[in-house]
Amino acid sequence: MKNITIAIDGFSSTGKSTVAKQIAKHFGYVYVDSGAMYRAVTYYAMKHNFIDANHFNAEGLIAQLNSINISFKFNSTLGFAEVYLNNVNIENEIRTLEVSGFVSKVAEISEVRQKLVEQQQQMGKDGGVVMDGRDIGTVVFPDAELKLFMNASAETRAKRRFSELIERGQQVTYEAVLQNVQERDHIDTNREDSPLVKAKDAIQIDNSDMSLQEQFDKILKLVNDTLNK
Ligand code: CDP
Repeated sequence: MKNITIAIDGFSSTGKSTVAKQIAKHFGYVYVDSGAMYRAVTYYAMKHNFIDANHFNAEGLIAQLNSINISFKFNSTLGFAEVYLNNVNIENEIRTLEVSGFVSKVAEISEVRQKLVEQQQQMGKDGGVVMDGRDIGTVVFPDAELKLFMNASAETRAKRRFSELIERGQQVTYEAVLQNVQERDHIDTNREDSPLVKAKDAIQIDNSDMSLQEQFDKILKLVNDTLNK
C-alpha cells in the first residue's frame, strides 16, 4: 500500500487532532501534532521569563532556540505520541488556557517557524504521516497527497474546547475560552509568515453539525479514495 502524506489544517479547536489520531491509527501512520511543538516553545518561553501578560522578549527567545529540543514519544496506553521538551514530558503542561493565550504570539516569529517546519518536514519525509496544524498543506507539505481544511463556528469550537479543559480539571470559563479561540483565529490568519489559509487544493470540511463518527467516516472515505487513485 502507498504511504501518503495527509495534511490537516484549520482554525483552533476544530477537532483536527481527534480525527488525525483516528486516521493515523486506522492506517498505522505516524500522527504529528505540529501545534504541540509551538506550544512547547511557548511553554519554554514562559518558564524562562521571555513572555508574560505584560511583555514579550522575542529576541531573547530567538537567541535560545538552539537550547530547545522538542521530541515525541509514543505512549502505548494513550495510543498517541506525547510531547517532550528537553527530554521532559510536558504533554499536560502545554494544554492549558495560559499557554493558549501566548502561543499565537510565539508562532508569529519566523525563526521559531523555520526551526519547527524543518523538524516537521524531517519527521514526514518518508510519508505515512498525518500532520495537523495551520500551514501543513501550504508550507510544510505543499505536495501532500491529501489536504483537508477544517472549520466550525467559533461557538461550537469554544464549547468543545471548554469541555475538554473542564475534563482535564482546569478552572476556566466558557467566555475566556471563546475569547482565546477568536483571538488566536485573528492572529493566526493575519500574521505575515505562513498565515492560516486554505491551500487551493485542500478539501474544506465544516464539522459544526457532524458527529465524531460522521466526521471519521467522511475523512476515511477521502483517504481511501486518495489511496486508490
Ligand atoms: O489544538 P488547537 O486548535 O487549540 O491549536 P494547536 O494545534 O495546539 O496550535 C496552537 C497554536 O500554534 C495555533 O493557534 C497557532 O498559533 C500555532 N500553530 C501554527 O502557527 N502553525 C502550526 N502548524 C500549528 C500551530
